[in-house]
Amino acid sequence: MVEFTLPKNSKVTKGKAWNKPKTKGDWREFRVYRWSPEDEENPRVDSYQVNLDECGPMVLDALIKIKNEIDPTLTFRRSCREGICGSCAMNIDGTNTLACTCGMDEIRGAVKVYPLPHQPVVKDLVPDLTNFYAQHRSVQPYLQTETTEPPKEWKQSREDREKLDGLYECILCACCSTSCPSYWWNSDRYLGPAVLLQAYRWVVDSRDEATGERLDNLEDPFRLYRCHTIMNCSKACPKGLNPAKAIAELKKLMVERRF
Ligand code: SF4
Ligand code: SF4
Ligand code: FES
Repeated sequence: MVEFTLPKNSKVTKGKAWNKPKTKGDWREFRVYRWSPEDEENPRVDSYQVNLDECGPMVLDALIKIKNEIDPTLTFRRSCREGICGSCAMNIDGTNTLACTCGMDEIRGAVKVYPLPHQPVVKDLVPDLTNFYAQHRSVQPYLQTETTEPPKEWKQSREDREKLDGLYECILCACCSTSCPSYWWNSDRYLGPAVLLQAYRWVVDSRDEATGERLDNLEDPFRLYRCHTIMNCSKACPKGLNPAKAIAELKKLMVERRF
């Protein structure tokens, strides 16, 4: 049997316990992944105690409280704090989700917080999504037209507009792609569920005139066909979207255009 040895510096070690519960209250432990490129140390998991009686209800509220009151070096991304920007995507209690819409009452016991899996880490809970964004750019996520009319606006029937439901809501948080085993192993060549959902969003847009080129761009053993319908992506999406279905629709269009 093949044995793999991980590099020594990849081992996650036990970190620091930053504080103890001081007053009466509903205290909860947060175990948070920490790693910094600025020192030579292994990643570690630090422990923080948060009094939920003095904190908002979401995991992001607790992370902000930790950063403001206990450990200002803790690094994470966030912006809108209402499930719109996708910045606060992370792995909470084993599930990729948005920290700002994940309620502490959904989690039992200590809250375990890690960065999105299988991506390089910039620092602490911040994944490096450079490849993910480059892949998004590669599907040319904007309206492409050849005809010059109408000059000002491209109208769409109500029925055609409805075809974009379940697609336009994607906030590119990457929760789905980073939960996909095919993407874990082939993210250099497989586009992954989020980007393929975006690709499909432009393929089915009745106003777009580059459908053929878009499908040509996906005709490749890896870019599209590395999806094996494992469905982790659709389970993970915090917006309730179904990237696996979008991928299946793309595959169907690929077959249909051959006849
Ligand atoms: S359905 Fe496809 S894209 Fe979704 S998790 Fe499975 S392999 Fe990945
Ligand atoms: S499909 Fe869902 S999980 Fe994937 S990037 Fe879009 S919003 Fe995030
Ligand atoms: S902070 Fe914007 S989605 Fe969570």
